[in-house]
Amino acid sequence: MKKLDIYKDVAQQIAAVIEGETSVTARYATVSCLLNEAFEDFFWTGFYVVDPLKPEELVVGPYQGTLGCLRIPFGKGVCGACAKVEETIIVEDVHAFPGHIACDSRTNSEIVVPVFDKEGKLAAVLDVDSTKHGSFDEVDKAALEAICKTLLA
Ligand code: SME
Repeated sequence: MKKLDIYKDVAQQIAAVIEGETSVTARYATVSCLLNEAFEDFFWTGFYVVDPLKPEELVVGPYQGTLGCLRIPFGKGVCGACAKVEETIIVEDVHAFPGHIACDSRTNSEIVVPVFDKEGKLAAVLDVDSTKHGSFDEVDKAALEAICKTLLA
């Protein structure tokens, strides 16, 4: 099955499961689980949310995968860089990314997508790490950004 078709299926599943669900935690958990189930090479799939008490810091949210670090300051690693620029970042080789936070050496590439609230303020980032090199491209970017737009809370 082509990547685009997998994304179409998974986006439909996500929409069906989270319909009417007002808990952001439940929505994020659903996305983490269904994306992680859909792609074999997704090794860590989940959210870092903006800490309301420390606005320049991300704290780990719902995820699937091995233990992730708990907190990431804005500007640090790929997640922190995404939080700072508020744009999707694709990293083909994490080992070559300056300041990458290596929670698990099995991760080789990653994509991080910003999630905004209804006021357009950054609420979280979606971090997907892959065991493959160069796993992510414009197809992933468009599909994951579309999914993140459905999470507006
Ligand atoms: N890869 C991330 C760190 C978080 S985890 O790998 C779960 C980064 O450099 O932002």
